Amino acid sequence: MKRVAIVGFRGMVGSVLVERMVAERDFDHCEPVFFSTSQTGAKAPAIGRDVAPVAGAGDVDTLAKFDVIISCQGGDYTTEMHPALRRAGFKGVWIDAASTLRMNDAAVIILDPVNRSLIDDAIHRGVRDFVGGNCTVSLMLMAIHGLYQKGWVEWVSTMTYQAASGAGAKNMRELVAQMRFIGQSAAPVLDDPARGILELDRAVGQALASEKLPKDEFGFPLAASLLAYIDKPVEAGQSREEWKGHVESNKILGLRGADEIPVDGICVRIGAMRCHSQGLTIKLKKDVPLDELDATIAESNPWARVVKNEKPATLAELTPAAISGTLEVPIGRLRKLKMGPTYLGGFTVGDQLLWGAAEPLRRMLRIVLEQ
Ligand code: HSE
Repeated sequence: MKRVAIVGFRGMVGSVLVERMVAERDFDHCEPVFFSTSQTGAKAPAIGRDVAPVAGAGDVDTLAKFDVIISCQGGDYTTEMHPALRRAGFKGVWIDAASTLRMNDAAVIILDPVNRSLIDDAIHRGVRDFVGGNCTVSLMLMAIHGLYQKGWVEWVSTMTYQAASGAGAKNMRELVAQMRFIGQSAAPVLDDPARGILELDRAVGQALASEKLPKDEFGFPLAASLLAYIDKPVEAGQSREEWKGHVESNKILGLRGADEIPVDGICVRIGAMRCHSQGLTIKLKKDVPLDELDATIAESNPWARVVKNEKPATLAELTPAAISGTLEVPIGRLRKLKMGPTYLGGFTVGDQLLWGAAEPLRRMLRIVLEQ
C-alpha cells in the first residue's frame, strides 16, 4: 500500500479533507501518517484505525520517503518545503491546496470531473505536482464546464459573492463576532417596537463605525456590509482573485494562446460562512435554446444541478444556507439576457471548502492510489 503523508490536517481545509477521507473510506486504501508544524508527537486524528503519532512537518528526510504528500499547510510551507523535498530526492506525488505552484508549467491544476483526461495524460508523462484550483474558479467550472465542452462559450463574466471561509478560519470567527457585536449594540432599539426603523439603522451604523467592532482580520466591517476587493492588486486594476479566473480556468481546461476563453469580473467578499456564489454572464458563440443549455449542464457531472428559474426554488435551493456542507453545485436563474439570445445569465452556489478546496485533493489521491 502506498504511504501517504498528510500535512496541515488541523487547519480548516485539512480538517474538511480528513472528514471527507473518512467518509469515503480513502484511508482503507493507503498507509497514512499525519504531519504538523506544531503538534509533533500528538495523537493523530481519529480515522477509524491506528496510526502513528503526529510527525514533524519540517522533517525533510522522513517526508522524502513517502509515495504521496498532501499539503494543506499553506503557501509558505510549499515555498519552503517543496523544493527542499525534491532536492532531497522526493520522487513521489505532491498534492497541494496552496496556490504557490498552480501556474508552474510542471504542475497540473486538479479538478477531475472537468479535466480528468489532462490529469491522466500528466501522470503518464511523469508529472508529479498536482494542485487544487482557486475555489471560485473550480466552482464555476463544476457548474458550467458542460457548456465549455460543447464549444459554446465565447467568454464568461463572473461577479462573485465570496464567503468568509475563503479568507481563513480567523475571518469566519470575526464575521460571527461582528454579527454579535452589531446585534448586541442594536438590541435595545430592536427590542422596543416603539422605536422607529431609522433609529435601528442608526444603531447598526454606529456599531459598524465603532472602534470596538472586531476587525483585526478583515480590517473593515463585513457583517451588514461587503468588501469589493479580494487579495492583492495585479495589473490593469484587477485583483489577484479576479486574475485567477482567466488564467486558472484556461489552465484547468488545457486551453492556451488563441484558444483561451476570456473570464473576468469583480470578486466581492460577503457575509456568508463557507459557500461562494457567482452571478454569471456567459456569452455563447451561437443561439442555443435554453432547454438544451439546461440539459447540457445537468448532464455534465453528478454534482452540477439546474435549479428552476422560479422564485420558490431559487430561494429554497440556490443559497449558501441550503448548500453549505454539501457537494452539490447548483446553478439557477438561467435565462437569456436582454442583450440578445447569445447572452446567458445564471447564478451558482458551491461550498468552497469542498469542491473549492478539499474534494479535488482527496479525489486526486484516489487517482494516484489506483495507478
Ligand atoms: N481565494 C479565495 C477567497 C479562497 O479568498 O475566497 C481560496 O481559493
